Amino acid sequence: MGPWPNDPLGPQARASADVYWIMFIAAVIVLVIVDGGLLFAGFRFRARPGHVAKQFHGHNFLELIWTVVPTIMVISFSVLSFQKLTFMNDTRTGAQMTIQVQGQQWTWVYSYPKEDRFKLPDGTYLQAAEELHIPVNTKVRLELSSKDVIHSFWVPNIGGKKDAVPGRPTELWIEADKPGTYKGQCFEFCGTGHADMLVTLVVHPQAEYAAWIGDALKEAARATAPETKAGRELFLSLPCTGCHTIKGTTAAGKVGPELTYVASKKSIAGGLLSPVNEANLTKWLQNPPAVKPGTLMPNLNLSAEQIRDLVSYLLTLKCPDNATTKCP
Ligand code: CUA
Repeated sequence: MGPWPNDPLGPQARASADVYWIMFIAAVIVLVIVDGGLLFAGFRFRARPGHVAKQFHGHNFLELIWTVVPTIMVISFSVLSFQKLTFMNDTRTGAQMTIQVQGQQWTWVYSYPKEDRFKLPDGTYLQAAEELHIPVNTKVRLELSSKDVIHSFWVPNIGGKKDAVPGRPTELWIEADKPGTYKGQCFEFCGTGHADMLVTLVVHPQAEYAAWIGDALKEAARATAPETKAGRELFLSLPCTGCHTIKGTTAAGKVGPELTYVASKKSIAGGLLSPVNEANLTKWLQNPPAVKPGTLMPNLNLSAEQIRDLVSYLLTLKCPDNATTKCP
């Protein structure tokens, strides 16, 4: 981010910054002329003993100027705004990919296009929470929806800001000039977790986007393996997702520890249960407060079968041997 809060780093943001700066500079010029004239007249023609004010009525030329000039200015601003709005609202022309963005309390879920390059072994397509990944210099159309209440998608440097409204699809397009990570924030108050409902936009160089898709598919395939289907679906249907994150799934809670590589951790329950194995995970899930009094994790009164399924799923969440990024 540059010195200005509205530092635009994409064409969408640049369009609105252009309107902002043109109107701002015009407003400063008007301010200087009008208030300058006012101060000048107030000082130059102030009441002084011995001076008699000149008596006259009207001044056709001046009146013409201060009627015609503002009219031309207002019309120009309208034309300029309509032009930029048309550009900013055009989500179709030149869009190279469409990603579905669903807001829910309190995370965003991104569904990538149903194209072969995003296809998983089980026939579904890549879907992820946490981060939105796009290639640089590519116009990406976002289809926004909401699962519960109104949210608002916004990455300030890239532009946009559009509400995600339940039952009413909206759309937006984004494009970034440079690779990097851009931060955003849900912009519509949506409940207690609103402040934590961040947007993380990761922009890749064109040549590296395919490699990212490969990594994301591997991660998602591991997270969608048939052997752990029962435990995984159970995990995603229980309140677990509200507190825990498992990368490659829609679980993106921030209250509890991340579980993406829980099977590679040294311990769980804040170090009370070590190592991370079937016995300890089972003990923990049976009754967390009994193991660690005061823990925020409630006893969900899970059945023995549910615990078995969950444990067998959690035990597959290992740090890969050839991990290129750090595993916790
Ligand atoms: Cu979602 Cu605020």
